[in-house]
Amino acid sequence: MIELKNLNKVFKAGNKEVKAVDGINLSVPEGSIYGVIGSSGAGKSTLIRCVNLLERPTSGQVMVDGQDLMQLNDRQLRDARRNIGMIFQHFNLLSSRTVFDNIALPLELAGASRQAIDEAVLPLLELTGLSDKRDSYPSQLSGGQKQRVAIARALASKPKVLLCDEATSALDPQTTASILALLKDINRQLKITVLIITHEMDVVKSICDRVAILSHGCLIEENDVEQFFLNPKTELAREFVRSAIHEKPVAEVESRFQQEKTPGANPVIRITFVGQRVVEPLITQAARKFDTDFVILQADIETVHDKVMGFLMVEVTGDEPSIEASLDFLSENVQVEVVGYVG
Ligand SMILES: Nc1ncnc2c1ncn2[C@@H]1O[C@H](COP(=O)(O)OP(=O)(O)OP(=O)(O)O)[C@@H](O)[C@H]1O
Ligand SMILES: [Mg+2]
Repeated sequence: MIELKNLNKVFKAGNKEVKAVDGINLSVPEGSIYGVIGSSGAGKSTLIRCVNLLERPTSGQVMVDGQDLMQLNDRQLRDARRNIGMIFQHFNLLSSRTVFDNIALPLELAGASRQAIDEAVLPLLELTGLSDKRDSYPSQLSGGQKQRVAIARALASKPKVLLCDEATSALDPQTTASILALLKDINRQLKITVLIITHEMDVVKSICDRVAILSHGCLIEENDVEQFFLNPKTELAREFVRSAIHEKPVAEVESRFQQEKTPGANPVIRITFVGQRVVEPLITQAARKFDTDFVILQADIETVHDKVMGFLMVEVTGDEPSIEASLDFLSENVQVEVVGYVG
């Protein structure tokens, strides 16, 4: 649905050049929810603004729904943009207009009749849970309600694509969850392809199908969300995954923790598993079979892309051959990675 080919955006500030987007190739499948994650300044906003040409790329190709946007004239581009809704971190509502009139704005601008506007806006008020707020003004709404208005407005022209730039970054966790649930509903019910830009791994974890990481304007890693959590390849990806599974150094072993193996030090392993696999009996079996002991330092169960995933940090004690044999045994059944040692 969205294809970016060798996309570049260079900003000139005085005699300095900033490559905000640097040779990006990206393909967002029709009907999917696609997340692009990156730290502040990575180029996320610039990238997403290139998708509807709010920002004109310096070079490269932007294909949306089979159309090469860079080749369109102004009128054609205006039409093409009706196919592409967008929401922002700070909602961008008009404060002098009611909820109804904010949602109706794109239709008014397109010259729709009063009746056509009513027919489009009323179901959107319903869909976004704002029916009782239709005559309120933005200043009378909570952040979550404002974002719902922005979503309804973005959907008014019946787009095929919805672009979301940090749509939940200004919201508390509970409101974030309800907005993400709404975006997922919209994606599944209305079959709208959603591209989400975020610096929050929780957003990716809860609703994205695929994810890409942006760093200094470049896409450095891309995968299905589940694979991304199981097998992050770059250090930045590992950091993002660790932030989502709330992994932190364990206080009781931190002072004894070391990266290098030394004689007598026990390995600390991270066990990652998917689905309702019962990991405890496996650990018990390994302990019994190979005469080793397992001390669980940290455990986290998360729902990632509708699947249950578990992340354990475990210290293994025993003699060296036994430890090795038990790790081999575990590796046959779950993902095991030695993250360090405790002396
Ligand atoms: N209009 C502009 N003129 C000059 N430089 C710009 C402009 N817009 C963005 N930049 C630069 O491009 C780079 C990427 O900025 P961008 O806003 O896309 O990052 P971001 O990933 O969205 O960051 P954040 O998470 O803070 O929103 C930054 O170095 C920024 O300073
Ligand atoms: Mg940004």
